Amino acid sequence: MNASSFLVALQRGCTQTFRRPHLVLPASCSRVQYRLESTEVVAAARMPYRVKVTAGKRYAWCACGHSKKQPYCDGAHKAKAPSIAPLRFTPDSTKMVMLCACKETKNAPYCDGSHFKVIFRDLVKSVKGVFK
Ligand code: FES
Repeated sequence: MNASSFLVALQRGCTQTFRRPHLVLPASCSRVQYRLESTEVVAAARMPYRVKVTAGKRYAWCACGHSKKQPYCDGAHKAKAPSIAPLRFTPDSTKMVMLCACKETKNAPYCDGSHFKVIFRDLVKSVKGVFK
């Protein structure tokens, strides 16, 4: 990867991540290939989902990252990550919350800021790739 393609990939990854809650990484990143084929937890996005939850309603937060209905479970874990179950939760009050999308939070299903580590780790990997 040369410097210009790195900048384009970095720009795509960062800008799209802030716009849409989808897995968006540079196509040239080998980590993407690993994640698409993985049966482990994958990041659905690098930034949390801001959603409104209703008091007393049951939710199933996608813990594997394979769901197409992020941040909620759509049953995709049964085929792609059978050992990972969704986290069920019932909010006490109706409010806006930030639900984790990077799937590395220590306070599931809520965002705890761990996504900054994910962003930094991906950035370091990209920079290392440029100087190889
Ligand atoms: S999105 Fe996972 S900790 Fe913020």
